[in-house]
Amino acid sequence: MYTVPKLEDFSPASLDKAASELREALENEARSALDPKAFEEFRNRWMARKNGLLTQVNDMWLKAAPGPAKRDVGQLVNALKKAAEVLVSDAEQLASSSGLAAKLKSETIDISLPGIERTLGVRHPVLRTLDELISVFVKMGYSIAEGPEVESDYYNFEALNFPPNHPARDTQDTLFIANQERHPQRDRLLLRTHTSPVQIRTMESQRPPVRVICPGKVHRNDAPDATHSPGFHQLEGLCVDTNITFGDLKGTLDHAMKSLFGSAVKTSFRPSFFPFTEPSVEVSISCPFCGGKGCRPCKQSGWIELLGAGMVDPNVFGFVNYDPKKLSGFAFGMGVERLTMMSYNVDDIQQFFYGDMRFLEQFA
Ligand code: PHE
Repeated sequence: MYTVPKLEDFSPASLDKAASELREALENEARSALDPKAFEEFRNRWMARKNGLLTQVNDMWLKAAPGPAKRDVGQLVNALKKAAEVLVSDAEQLASSSGLAAKLKSETIDISLPGIERTLGVRHPVLRTLDELISVFVKMGYSIAEGPEVESDYYNFEALNFPPNHPARDTQDTLFIANQERHPQRDRLLLRTHTSPVQIRTMESQRPPVRVICPGKVHRNDAPDATHSPGFHQLEGLCVDTNITFGDLKGTLDHAMKSLFGSAVKTSFRPSFFPFTEPSVEVSISCPFCGGKGCRPCKQSGWIELLGAGMVDPNVFGFVNYDPKKLSGFAFGMGVERLTMMSYNVDDIQQFFYGDMRFLEQFA
């Protein structure tokens, strides 16, 4: 508890020190006089005419000061009295119950108000299918390769054995980057129409044996409708080694489809054409909804066409310096949205792109 010291030394430094100790005590006590009773005690202790601390200051500091110091000490004591008056009246306000209550009221926060709730997101259904596909092929020893979405004509077409002006290019309605005419055709940029260019990029950078899958976004100049979208996803696969046969292709895809849709599904391979595979096939699975009897999703046919595939055309090996006499391989490509529509019985591909929570929440 603070007591007023007797002063021996009336030098300015000693006065300063005594004054600041007093002020500190005064401020501390003012702050803890929080109810009317404590305030009353606080005020009496400091302000009482008879023997209050400020009266003691008057007696022990001012009256005891030697003549030459009187003026300085007088000013100091006056300043302390003024400061004390202000602190006391502030403390009085705070301590009077209405003052404190008002202050507390003005500072309350309602901690019972609910905060902003952020719901956890989930994986988009298309990415979920892609993850499942990837895990099926990773278990078979495939690794993942990626390539750019803005591709050159060379990788998207030429090295995949689509000669310039070949009509097969027309089957992939291509979105070209503007103002590329000054470049040679092979360097002109476009949005890749399939993930097959990653086959070329992989074989350019890696010696056989190769086993990769290439997931990614592709673009075509298609008007959006229930089964078409100008942007969608594909999963490409490529396997090259010595002695790879069409039997390996069939076994691999049959296993993958059974892993995805259950061991009861059958696969069927029908002849088709792609410039970069020979022979080429369209692969269908028996309808997982009706088991092959015929229903709406399979358009009563019992089969659903899901992917394109084939044995790598020897001409493609020529573009990447692989020896077609020693090597063989197969490739396949599938549309991820289409597979997702099958898996979750979604009848409009556009649902994947609207971002409508009512649709997406069903996958949470
Ligand atoms: N790239 C072909 C397409 O988009 C699919 C495919 C990939 C076919 C690999 C054969 C081999 O239609």
